[in-house]
Amino acid sequence: MDLVHPLAEQYAAFYSSPENEFIREVSVHTKQTHPHAQMLSGHVQGSFLTILSTLLQPQRILEIGTFTGYSALCLAKGLKSDGLIHTIELRADDAATANRFFRQSPHKEKIILHIGNAKDIIPALNENWDIVFIDADKTAYIDYYELILPCVKQNGLIIADNVLFHGEVLTEIINGKNAIAIHAFNMHVKNDRRVEQVLLTMRDGLSIIRKL
Ligand SMILES: C[S@@+](CC[C@H](N)C(=O)[O-])C[C@H]1O[C@@H](n2cnc3c(N)ncnc32)[C@H](O)[C@@H]1O
Repeated sequence: MDLVHPLAEQYAAFYSSPENEFIREVSVHTKQTHPHAQMLSGHVQGSFLTILSTLLQPQRILEIGTFTGYSALCLAKGLKSDGLIHTIELRADDAATANRFFRQSPHKEKIILHIGNAKDIIPALNENWDIVFIDADKTAYIDYYELILPCVKQNGLIIADNVLFHGEVLTEIINGKNAIAIHAFNMHVKNDRRVEQVLLTMRDGLSIIRKL
């Protein structure tokens, strides 16, 4: 299901600042070579991540789900001069593609790529996060959220992608393990007094969750 009308998507992209050339190259390469290129955040959502990151000037960002590196590069742009982004990718081939782009990036010194299962890697990261972007396996969103929330700074943001899961959470009876998991995640956040949140109907649904 197209959640946003394709014409509205095109219009939004046209009236958003253009993707910088390097970030566009990641998108073009992924679309030309990857069978699951639709997983990439894309122009409008990527620009939104860059603007949020630039406003917050984070010291530490965690990304769960690197894929080919697009969103990590968007987020890295806003980091403080001594800031770092840790990004975690399970699949070695996608991590290798991301790493190639990271090494060419002006932010290369600020990007730390971890290859492996986020559930194993996150507990070993001894950091306090300004921004966490959750964009990996949908059935683990609640686990990731509970793992990282104690390490998110006050007023820090958790950004969760695909929270409308292709519209599959909108039906009266929700089927499919991913849609069920995402719906449970949305309910979990809604009932959590430690945060306030807004669920945006951007792309496939993007929740912005602020730790109180
Ligand atoms: C939707 S894609 C990420 C897209 C990327 N954030 C972007 O916007 O360009 C999800 C990624 O999470 C990775 N992933 C899935 N399960 C994971 C896990 N347990 N640990 C780390 N990465 C995982 C997948 O291999 C995939 O590359």
